[in-house]
Amino acid sequence: MKQKIFYNAQEQDAAEGVAEQDGVSGVATRDTGADSAPPKRESLLEKKDGQDPNEDAGSGTNADADSEANARAKKFGKEHPEMAGDMKAQADERPSEDKIDEPKLSGDDGPVVSIKGLYKAFKEHEVLRGVDLEVKRGENVVVLGKSGSGKSVLIKCLVGLEWPDAGELKIFGKDISTLNYRDLNDTRLRTGFLFQNAALYDSMTVRENLSFPLRQHKKKMPYEKKNELIMEMLENVGLADAVDQMPSKLSGGQAKRIGLARTLILRPEVMLYDEPTTGLDTGTSKEISELILRMQKKYNISSILITHDMACAKMTADRIVMMKEGQIVAQGTYEELEKSDDEWIKSFFDHV
Ligand SMILES: Nc1ncnc2c1ncn2[C@@H]1O[C@H](COP(=O)(O)OP(=O)(O)OP(=O)(O)O)[C@@H](O)[C@H]1O
Ligand SMILES: [Mg+2]
Repeated sequence: MKQKIFYNAQEQDAAEGVAEQDGVSGVATRDTGADSAPPKRESLLEKKDGQDPNEDAGSGTNADADSEANARAKKFGKEHPEMAGDMKAQADERPSEDKIDEPKLSGDDGPVVSIKGLYKAFKEHEVLRGVDLEVKRGENVVVLGKSGSGKSVLIKCLVGLEWPDAGELKIFGKDISTLNYRDLNDTRLRTGFLFQNAALYDSMTVRENLSFPLRQHKKKMPYEKKNELIMEMLENVGLADAVDQMPSKLSGGQAKRIGLARTLILRPEVMLYDEPTTGLDTGTSKEISELILRMQKKYNISSILITHDMACAKMTADRIVMMKEGQIVAQGTYEELEKSDDEWIKSFFDHV
């Protein structure tokens, strides 16, 4: 069992939620849907260098596959060396900062996220099969793909909830496979993750829910400053009046807003959203999409947002990447993709 590092209880809870969701039956159900036949790559709107977009990406003998697997000579070991041992305990000893600083910019204009040739398999099931993706500063990238295509696994790799088998994964210009635990934790603190089922703590008020990450990571911050930040974030999401409410009194949309406020309170530079509007009615989904967009502009956040909600994609995406069977097979703006003649791409836009 791999060691996971959690940066706040929200992540830990969410990860446990994910573990439940991806429990044995869930995996089995979705695995049966995963086609073992080699996937045929769709026409690429943006063709990779020297690659025939229609070539059969998965063809090859077992021997080929073996040598290919060996050739992905593990820069990413099965276990990151710095992740071994009691990382949680070490992370807790990390000195916390006094104040919420302006986001630390990486100091260059390079991409905030850079993924190259990322592979991840669960036993013989190859889920990510060479993902390449870059996110520029301030850019909102939406990931579209059918269920089971590897979208969630991709962003779990970015926050260390899954560890890739091979490939390069840089955040803020740093290759995360080379970082020591302190730098890794620092990187993670600059990366917010809003899980689909990110639940609020039921037994805590809204104020307590928002103060939780501050208590964890900003231990020396004065109480007044914490309260000021909590109120600023609640005003941002239009719920200042709910500060003393218990989560059970909130609607689904309100709880999502509070979840977003709780994630943003640490001022992440990059946000990862996994289906932020799922389970909400159309009107509420639109409000959440607008809020995400407003917050990203206000705090200059870059993001990767996974969604099945095409209205959300249309509203929030600077660029859409389309994932199929563990690879990014097409990308473009909403308007560009909407006009595609490719049947598979069209199927996403048909019911909009
Ligand atoms: N921890 C795990 N162990 C084994 N298989 C896993 C694990 N996590 C994910 N998978 C498998 O990897 C594949 C991709 O899963 P992932 O959750 O990334 O899909 P997705 O594209 O996010 O789908 P959805 O749109 O339904 O959320 C699935 O077949 C899933 O069963
Ligand atoms: Mg998913």
